[in-house]
Amino acid sequence: MRVIRDTAAMQALAIERRSKGVNTALVPTMGALHEGHLSLIRLAHEHGDEVDVTIFVNPTQFGPGEDLSRYPRTLERDLELCRKEGVATVFCPNDGEVYAADHSTQISETSLSSGLCGAYRPGHFDGVVTVVAKLFNIMLPTAAVFGRKDFQQARAIQRMVRDLNFPVRIVLAPIVREPDGLAMSSRNRYLSEAEREQALSISRALKAAETEVAGGSENAEVLQRAAEAAITAAGLEVQYVACVDADTLEPVARVGRQVVLAVAALVGNTRLIDNVVLQPSAS
Ligand code: PAF
Repeated sequence: MRVIRDTAAMQALAIERRSKGVNTALVPTMGALHEGHLSLIRLAHEHGDEVDVTIFVNPTQFGPGEDLSRYPRTLERDLELCRKEGVATVFCPNDGEVYAADHSTQISETSLSSGLCGAYRPGHFDGVVTVVAKLFNIMLPTAAVFGRKDFQQARAIQRMVRDLNFPVRIVLAPIVREPDGLAMSSRNRYLSEAEREQALSISRALKAAETEVAGGSENAEVLQRAAEAAITAAGLEVQYVACVDADTLEPVARVGRQVVLAVAALVGNTRLIDNVVLQPSAS
């Protein structure tokens, strides 16, 4: 496995591989890899001759007071996991390799990024789409795999790729959960045992909504209120519980086809997100 820290060297390799007709599938990450990331890598093997992983804790997607400085950094372990998963190349630059000290250009996706997490994390999605665009230009992947847990991020990236004509196929991968239902996240390691137990209220509330919808419920307001009440009762501070159209991310009043129920909540100082696609009953 190649481990490359230098942007120019990485881009040169990417150009060379492309000229030889090698298709690559990219998994962009911020490291602290867990089973969720490994599932993305396994899926990426189906979409390219070689799989690349980037490990970069992107400073521009963290707001003031967020967890940039304490974000888990476990590079040696991450490299070992990538080796075991048959990754061809890991690009793990430092900040200066990605952003020039006087960088003054960024991308903004201004529609899908504005609600949900965007309302609570101003500038976050600008940081995400900008770094993903930069990584696409450095890595030149044919396909790139993103997890559905960060559903709004995935939609904003799909929109950026469409609007700016990036020749990259975006593949979305299912959410990977712990056996008790907690969606896997690098931030789960911040949780104390008690907080982890409280955090389960999120996946349980989503599951309950799924069951309600399968049983015929379709009133979004009722579903949202029930989920919010259950999560609040567990001691979390809910930022939003929202039924949105999976394509536009606009709030919906009724659960028809393609609706996502999305949640963001704070457990202590840890911000967790999760979502579920609601499938209305056939009748
Ligand atoms: O989902 C993540 O880990 C990050 O937001 C990403 C896509 C790697 C961009 O920094």
